[in-house]
Amino acid sequence: MPFPAKRLRRLRRSESLRELARDTRLDASDLVCPVFVDESGGSPGIESMPGLSRVSPRDVAAEAGEIRELGIRAVMLFGIPSSKDSAGSAAHAGDGVVQRAIRDIRAAHGDALAIMADTCLCQYTDTGHCGIAGGGGEIENDASLAALSRVAVSQARAGADVVSPSAMMDGQVSAIRAALDSAGHGDVAIMSHSAKHASSFYAPFRDAASCAPQFGDRRTYQVPYTSSRAAMQEVAADIEEGVDIVMIKPALAYLDVIAEARRRFDVPVAAYSVSGEYALVKAAAERGMVDGGAVATEILHAIRRAGAGIIVTYFAREAAAALRGGK
Ligand code: PBG
Repeated sequence: MPFPAKRLRRLRRSESLRELARDTRLDASDLVCPVFVDESGGSPGIESMPGLSRVSPRDVAAEAGEIRELGIRAVMLFGIPSSKDSAGSAAHAGDGVVQRAIRDIRAAHGDALAIMADTCLCQYTDTGHCGIAGGGGEIENDASLAALSRVAVSQARAGADVVSPSAMMDGQVSAIRAALDSAGHGDVAIMSHSAKHASSFYAPFRDAASCAPQFGDRRTYQVPYTSSRAAMQEVAADIEEGVDIVMIKPALAYLDVIAEARRRFDVPVAAYSVSGEYALVKAAAERGMVDGGAVATEILHAIRRAGAGIIVTYFAREAAAALRGGK
């Protein structure tokens, strides 16, 4: 028998058939929209991330309202404090920029939006590192765990639904879980940046959030992109420590890691499509090299297809708007 002609093309003949046969969907409710809250007042544009802005704490509830209108169900808050110190103490201040934003969003929107907070120190430390630096410049694991736990508890106290540790300290999930539980926040979930790779794709974010390390780099704590084994060990460790959602970061160049985590572990898997992924598409689109919206939609579907059920992405608003418009 000759190989039947058009065998694989039968279900591609029309839009209806293609829709019927599809196995990958993207919905606005899969997306988490990052929001930069800038204590010193916000700015209309972020040069390295076209189309995005830093929001003043005054405007954050209104911004959340626009996000909610698009059908997105979660925001991820990043704070840009007006002062930094060696301990990153503004990160756990009761009236800190993120803590205030959490309260304002909750007051305006109740449970309509899940409020996630980035739990880290790098925007708050004068070293720009995600942990506490010791005398010799090394990032001290245990001192950092204590600081991160304080940040998480302060965010929970302000009303966060989910805290999202991104510092890549060993044991951060168990330390934060224990601190939350003993402070009476047993119902606050942890979405850990479980396999956060040491990546050059973060450059626009460091510019947007002014958190570039002032010495050295983050390679003593973030996962080398040359080791898929280390990525899986990180995910396994977080699950053992009681994480609720694991996250792989970046996303696009790490689809294999997302797929492997999905295959191996029975927990929700999130992917963080980071600033550099966004900037590459925007830059090429601005030069007319690609259709930015179409490329973004394709990338987000690829991340879903790889196995991520939750996607943190700077494309959240435009992708949700496009989904509304039936694109
Ligand atoms: C810092 C942090 C970074 C990102 C999120 N949290 C930067 C870094 O680790 O250097 C990057 C996010 C992005 O690039 O979009 N803890």
